[in-house]
Amino acid sequence: MNSPQIVETVADLRAVVRSWRNEGLRVAMVPTMGALHDGHISLTRLALERADRCVVSIFVNPTQFAPNEDLDKYPRQLAADLDRLAEAGVQLAYTPPATEMYPEGFAAKIIVGGPSAGLETDFRPTFFEGVATVVAKLLLQAAPDLAVFGEKDYQQLCVVKKLCRDLDIPVEIVAAPTVRDAEGLAMSSRNAYLSPAELGVARQLNRILRQAAEALRSGAGETETLSAARKQLLDAGFGTVDYVEARESLTLAPWRIDRHGRILAAVRLGGTRLIDNLEI
Ligand code: PAF
Repeated sequence: MNSPQIVETVADLRAVVRSWRNEGLRVAMVPTMGALHDGHISLTRLALERADRCVVSIFVNPTQFAPNEDLDKYPRQLAADLDRLAEAGVQLAYTPPATEMYPEGFAAKIIVGGPSAGLETDFRPTFFEGVATVVAKLLLQAAPDLAVFGEKDYQQLCVVKKLCRDLDIPVEIVAAPTVRDAEGLAMSSRNAYLSPAELGVARQLNRILRQAAEALRSGAGETETLSAARKQLLDAGFGTVDYVEARESLTLAPWRIDRHGRILAAVRLGGTRLIDNLEI
């Protein structure tokens, strides 16, 4: 088991990727904010199935957190993350300090539009600006052949695809299915915040979404189905339901029964916000 090489600067990252390219190797990137769990490891597995070398970035991106959010308490565990990357056979970890990503005077901001509208943006208005800006930087810094993003953050995946298409960033975006525990709870670094009692409630989220997705698939009315799902979520013990909505899979426009659809939800449980989504 070899530890991944670690680089902290754009120059060092580019030097390693250049040396791989000179050997004719195909390069994949998995952008993360660390606190790696099985979901992240499944992304690296997919990356290494599709490419010869994998670089994982670990950067808790301050620009995607609003002032009232959990930037300070977001789990940071670099040593454990590097062990997991070594087990997974990842060759390179890119761990830039904030000053490397956002040097003094940094002012650029990317607003993607399209699939960023609504859902998360209604509750976290500047979130996708932060994500799009850092993802564009990471992809331009590493210049991988492909980059893997999880379907767990489904709206983020759609925003990243649109970002790359609209800005002609020459990378293939690969979507990886959500990894769930035995009871269907989607893996998330924020699950670490949940108490044992809250975990029990959190595990109801995918069950309720699955029932709603099945109902929609078999032709039940959208308004009734989604408001029943909202009520079931509140009855299950979630404090707030930010949204539970059905959207068209590719554009995230309002869903129509003859289109591929996705049901997406965000809920709050104590101080923790959870999101999940399923195909309709
Ligand atoms: O999904 C995440 O962990 C982050 O939003 C990402 C894509 C690494 C950008 O900071």
